[in-house]
Amino acid sequence: MLQLREKALFPACAIASSLSAMNLLLLSGSLREGSVNGATLQTVQRLAPASLSVRIYSGTEHLPYYSPDLDHDPLPPAVQQLRGAVAEADAVLMCTPEYAGALPGAFKNLLEWTVGSVVMNDKSVAWINVSTAPTEAKDAHASLRLVLGYVGAQVIEDACLPLPVPRSALGPDGLIHDP
Ligand SMILES: Cc1cc2nc3c(=O)[nH]c(=O)nc-3n(C[C@H](O)[C@H](O)[C@H](O)COP(=O)(O)O)c2cc1C
Repeated sequence: MLQLREKALFPACAIASSLSAMNLLLLSGSLREGSVNGATLQTVQRLAPASLSVRIYSGTEHLPYYSPDLDHDPLPPAVQQLRGAVAEADAVLMCTPEYAGALPGAFKNLLEWTVGSVVMNDKSVAWINVSTAPTEAKDAHASLRLVLGYVGAQVIEDACLPLPVPRSALGPDGLIHDP
């Protein structure tokens, strides 16, 4: 049984209370099977209050590499799906690892696909940093903040949470069981 308390893992709640958001979109920066970032978002979804509709976006690997040449109607289907999911969301919660001192390329590509539209404009966003050491992944999160500035998103500072999650905290069901 999950023993996490909502407050421990719920920047989502901070977003919700600041906005009365009903639709929360979760974006993971990791494509890895067994990803700690993915598991964290799955746990967020599992623990979400019933008043929130929480959806995990799962199309990152289907997005083409961003090119302005592709950014016109008709958009690639995966891009339409991404932009639709972001547009429908009242708030977006992200959870990403750092690769080679930066955002993972696939996740940066996802974010670039939001630049060419207004879907992120004024969108309330936050992130959970699951790194287990204070200096880990700080460049990725600095970069995330920068990119979100370019797309005009509104970072909800109170909802951004450092939450160290070691791989050992994941249970056999892929969720976090460490309270
Ligand atoms: C190719 C690669 C590069 C990495 N580069 C960094 C890095 O620059 N900084 C860092 O803090 N961690 C780095 N890591 C460690 C990952 O961020 C860490 O394993 C993280 O838990 C992966 O997230 P996931 O479990 O959600 O896939 C790297 C891992 C890989 C595979």
